[in-house]
Amino acid sequence: MTFDRRIKIAPSILSADFADFGREIAAVEAQGADWVHVDVMDGHFVPNLTFGPPAVAAFRRHVKTVMDVHLMIAPVDPWIDAFARAGADILTAHVEAGPHIHRTLQAIRAAGMRPGVALNPGTPAEAVAHVLDLVDLVCVMTVNPGFGGQGFIDMTGKIRALRAMIGDRPVHIEIDGGVTPATAPRVAAAGADVLVAGSAVFKGGSADDPAPYGANIAAIRAAAVAVAA
Ligand code: DX5
Ligand code: ZN
Repeated sequence: MTFDRRIKIAPSILSADFADFGREIAAVEAQGADWVHVDVMDGHFVPNLTFGPPAVAAFRRHVKTVMDVHLMIAPVDPWIDAFARAGADILTAHVEAGPHIHRTLQAIRAAGMRPGVALNPGTPAEAVAHVLDLVDLVCVMTVNPGFGGQGFIDMTGKIRALRAMIGDRPVHIEIDGGVTPATAPRVAAAGADVLVAGSAVFKGGSADDPAPYGANIAAIRAAAVAVAA
């Protein structure tokens, strides 16, 4: 996994058929996904429950690109080794998830994964200023986390601030929530390079009829690439 700032599309399997994850992952990868985004929710940090380490380990057998695991759980630290064993390539923790994000990010790196840090819409860019040397990715939430299919919340100013703070560091800016061909240009122009999209990728298709996934991914990518910073 070499670093670059080209636009990458990371379908969130939160919008996939939950009874058919293996084929859904294969379908989005065959249709052009750059990464596969896995949303882990605990019913405590966010008001929804999804999957734990055994499910993520099962996804791993199907992911040929990059498995990007977004933890919406608190606490994080007791689960880091389990997600490393499950095969996460990137493990992202929320800055709001506890008082020791610095320690958490060090522990993720020590466990052999690439650390990411995520910010809720109400959290300022400055909250991650002192951990930028510890991460491979900053995830800017453009919805309040917990559910797919929500409306986009404009975080353009925060993205621009983070892009300036990151400077020459090899750190991705990922956008998560409400990404569509209409919103993608706004975040790409502000400096984002990884676009997570759930409902906008999976709509209209299925593992048996995956061509719409490809068209949806291509539409988001084209809209973003046209304006990428
Ligand atoms: C929200 C999740 C997102 C979500 C995005 O809590 O972190 O990854 O699946 O879904 P859409 O693209 O439908 O907003
Ligand atoms: Zn996510």
